[in-house]
Amino acid sequence: MTTLRIKSEKQQDTIDLGTRLARHLKRGDILCLLGDLGAGKTTFVKGLAKGLRINPAKVNSPTFVLMNAYKGKVPLYHFDFYRLEEIHEIASIGYDEFLYGDGVAVVEWAERFGTLMPKEHLEVALKHQGDNGRMIKVKAKGERYVKLLEKIKEKSG
Ligand SMILES: Nc1ncnc2c1ncn2[C@@H]1O[C@H](COP(=O)(O)OP(=O)(O)OP(=O)(O)O)[C@@H](O)[C@H]1O
Ligand SMILES: [Mg+2]
Repeated sequence: MTTLRIKSEKQQDTIDLGTRLARHLKRGDILCLLGDLGAGKTTFVKGLAKGLRINPAKVNSPTFVLMNAYKGKVPLYHFDFYRLEEIHEIASIGYDEFLYGDGVAVVEWAERFGTLMPKEHLEVALKHQGDNGRMIKVKAKGERYVKLLEKIKEKSG
């Protein structure tokens, strides 16, 4: 199976999913987050941070700088492409060094990657369902992420 569907009833559920996932992440992993304003992307990244032993309070959307780096068990590179106007801005920050580098990379508004979207990644799509409900769909794109999803499923079963 390459897809996992999880219903989040409240903010803490989304944080917990990130934390659970983070335990299985390794250097070079890439997570692409999709979803509207307020869907819970940054909330999910706070959960990831917690799982990587980074203070979640340090995680905020890097809206003006395109990327924040946090030091943890492994480095976490947090991109946010909300304000991206042209795709060359991504290239201009040397994104590939971080994306395919020594840490875990997570990207909010990954839709805006366009042609630079990494071929292999874990896709996390968050959708509003009522006020506090979210449907979170985690999809493996590539062999590494199929394996990762299997691990996550084992633990949740
Ligand atoms: N089940 C839920 N999961 C995640 N967030 C939730 C949930 N229910 C309510 N919320 C609230 O929704 C908001 C999500 O905000 P967050 O900044 O994480 O969204 P975002 O997708 O990063 O938005 P943006 O596109 O502006 O970056 C928070 O205020 C959070 O408290
Ligand atoms: Mg955000």
